[in-house]
Amino acid sequence: MRHLTMVLLLCGTAANADHELENRDLTAGRALYVTQCASCHGVQLEGQPDWRAAGADGVLPAPPHDASGHTWHHANAALFDYTKQGGRAALAAMGVVDFNSGMPGFEGVLSDDDIWSILAYIRSTWPETKRDLQASRNPKHK
Ligand code: HEC
Repeated sequence: MRHLTMVLLLCGTAANADHELENRDLTAGRALYVTQCASCHGVQLEGQPDWRAAGADGVLPAPPHDASGHTWHHANAALFDYTKQGGRAALAAMGVVDFNSGMPGFEGVLSDDDIWSILAYIRSTWPETKRDLQASRNPKHK
């Protein structure tokens, strides 16, 4: 019985889909991150100071993408949509309307592959525990 539980546990972990972020070019991802994202999210992925507090205009500062932020709390698809569509459109699609987002959409600027490479680079900076937690947010492999 104990063995069976172990096997099931191991299968459970391996079955967490993370495939969109697998086998990406992390060097290209980092280069794109630096040119497209670092001006707001920081060269070291450190985010902007006081990133939890919105400014007078209601716009939040850019959060860090390193392990101290909340990027690893979100599933692949959510991160992808937020980057491609921008905060306002991505949140509207989830029913949150009129959010005054400071996050621009990169559709037409970055290809889908570019976005996945950047997200894979961001993920590569997290410790394994955070990578595993993030992977567990994704739908299971069939
Ligand atoms: C002009 C500044 C700016 C740039 C450039 C920018 N962001 Fe953002 N980003 C923000 C802000 C501000 C937020 C906070 C949430 C909001 O306002 O919608 C955010 C939030 C996010 C989020 C959701 C929060 C999280 O931690 O998961 C993701 C994912 C994200 N950005 C990815 C990117 C990526 C990838 C790039 C580069 C391709 C990028 N951003 C470039 C300002 C920016």
